[in-house]
Amino acid sequence: MDDQQAERSVDRPGHIRSFVRRQGRVSAAQQRYREQMMGSIGVPYVAERVDLDALFGRSAPQILEIGFGMGETSAAIAARHPEQDYLGIEVHTPGVGSLCKLIAEMGLANQRIIQHDAVEVLREMIAPATLAGVHVFFPDPWPKKRHHKRRLLQPALVSLLASRLRPGGYLHTATDWQDYAEQMLAVLSSEALLENTAPGFAPRPDYRPQTKFEQRGLRLGHGVWDVVFRRRPENVPPRSLEAENDRQDQLA
Ligand SMILES: C[S@@+](CC[C@H](N)C(=O)[O-])C[C@H]1O[C@@H](n2cnc3c(N)ncnc32)[C@H](O)[C@@H]1O
Repeated sequence: MDDQQAERSVDRPGHIRSFVRRQGRVSAAQQRYREQMMGSIGVPYVAERVDLDALFGRSAPQILEIGFGMGETSAAIAARHPEQDYLGIEVHTPGVGSLCKLIAEMGLANQRIIQHDAVEVLREMIAPATLAGVHVFFPDPWPKKRHHKRRLLQPALVSLLASRLRPGGYLHTATDWQDYAEQMLAVLSSEALLENTAPGFAPRPDYRPQTKFEQRGLRLGHGVWDVVFRRRPENVPPRSLEAENDRQDQLA
């Protein structure tokens, strides 16, 4: 699926997209690696549950990432943790090509890619209580107030994400926009299935490498905030089915 198809796939009344189609140029190498690799490590979008163990050919902790951009962080993490499996979701074609190239060059066996809107992937393809972790690093900040409704980390999506984590599984978000960081902390704190792993913002976990962009920002005095929550253990009563349905209707 290309960028246009990804955008059209969620273009139905009431669905507010967290991304816009960008005209970013796809380099010849990105194009070539995407064509060569997506047949083996790409997972086509289907509106039904997928068997993640079958997808990776083993049963290991599975971490889902929303919006991997050009994939440098994803590849670095997957390389450092061969004992875990990583499912990256991105809509942007140059980024998909770029991660395919990194996977090929680094010989990664534990990284798969879905090129589709992550909201639909989570809702349709991922079974409840399966994921060991979710990464959402530097999601589009949508800084203008009138665009805040496009921000990914809203109560309905956080609720969906929490439901896909297994008990004890973690949700790790990071941003360099202070007001979005505060929004993340507030939204995750009000999700009943989740509990904070820190008193407020978390120290950057060792597994998240700093990007060049982030290092430059830090040198210029910009902040970066990590937020790491965990799904509560099984014995916490889940939200009522009715309330859950109401929340999911907000995403439809
Ligand atoms: C600001 S970039 C950050 C990229 C990367 N995580 C990083 O830290 O460099 C956000 C990315 O999320 C992707 N994205 C936004 N909404 C998405 C969605 N609903 N599904 C999949 N990808 C999405 C965008 O295409 C973009 O590449």
